[in-house]
Amino acid sequence: MEVIRSLPRMTEWSDQMVRAGRSIAFVPTMGYFHEGHLSLMRMARKQAECVVVSLFVNPIQFGPAEDLSHYPRDFERDKAMAAREGIDVLFSPEVKEMYPEGALSKVTVDKLGLTLCGASRPGHFDGVTTVVAKLFNLVRPQCAVFGSKDFQQLAIIRRMVKDLNWGIDILAHPIVREDDGLAMSSRNTYLDKYSRPSALCLYNAIKMARKRVMAGFSEAEKLVIELRELILSYGNVEIEYIDIVDRDDLMTQDKINAESFLVMAVKVGNTRLIDNDHLGILLGNIVTRI
Ligand code: PAJ
Repeated sequence: MEVIRSLPRMTEWSDQMVRAGRSIAFVPTMGYFHEGHLSLMRMARKQAECVVVSLFVNPIQFGPAEDLSHYPRDFERDKAMAAREGIDVLFSPEVKEMYPEGALSKVTVDKLGLTLCGASRPGHFDGVTTVVAKLFNLVRPQCAVFGSKDFQQLAIIRRMVKDLNWGIDILAHPIVREDDGLAMSSRNTYLDKYSRPSALCLYNAIKMARKRVMAGFSEAEKLVIELRELILSYGNVEIEYIDIVDRDDLMTQDKINAESFLVMAVKVGNTRLIDNDHLGILLGNIVTRI
C-alpha cells in the first residue's frame, strides 16, 4: 500500500492507472477506522482493480463550535488497518495543500443541504461536497462507496454527481452496527459508560418503527410522535430531529411509501448521534431501489 500525502503525486498515480486502463474504486473517510469503514473498503475492493481510501479530517465541514480539534485520530493504526484490507493507496493530504490560501471556490448542493442535519450545522454540507468534489478530481475514480449511515450526505453526493455530470457510480453500503444495534461511528468513542445505554434509543426507535410499518401502519406523523415519546423515555437525551422523509428530495412525508426513510439526530449527553432506516422496504411486494 502506498501512502500518498501530496496532491501532485495523487494525480500522477491516478493518471497512470487511467492510462493503463485500470479501474479505481474510492472510499472517502475522515479516519479513525471502525468496522463500518472497513466494510466500505471491502465493497470497493469488489468493484475495481485498484482501491484508494482517503483519510482527511476536513476542517471546512466542522462548525466553529464543533469537535474538529477533538476529532479522534490515529494515523498509524488506520494505516495498518487499511493495509490489512489490501488497499492500494491511502491518500492523506495536508490541510494547507487541500485549502491553500486564496482559494475562493466551493460546491453547494442547494436545498438538500439546508434541512435535517444541515439546519443545525450551517455550511456543513458545503464543506462535504467541496472536499468530495476535490477528492473526486484528484483520485478520478469510476465508482465511490459511501455509507448509508450518513443518509443525507449520500443523497447530496448523488445529486451533486448527477447535476455535475461526473459519471461516477455512487454505491451505498448498509449501516454497520454494534452487536446491540448502535450504528458504528468514530464519534462513539465520546460516549461514556453513563450515556452508552441511552445511545440505544435510536436503534430501539428503528425497531419500533419497523414493527409498526410491518403491521400496516402508514401514518408518518403519528409514528414520529410515538418515536419521540420512546426516545424521550431514555435519560440524558435531547432530540434534534426525527422525521420520515423521501429518500431523494428529503421532504417530510405524510404517508409511508416505498421511498420512505426514518431519519434521526439525537444528542446523548454531549454526543450527537445520527441513525436512519429504510422503512419503505418493509412494505412488501414493491420494487425498491437499494
Ligand atoms: P466518515 O465519518 O469518516 O465516514 C466515511 C464513510 O464511512 C462515510 O461514507 C460514512 O457514511 C461511512 N460510515 C461511517 N459509519 C458507518 C457505519 N456504521 N456503517 C456504514 N458506513 C459507515 O462521512 C465522512 O467521513 C465525511 O463526511 C467524508 C465523506 C469523508 C467527507 O469529508
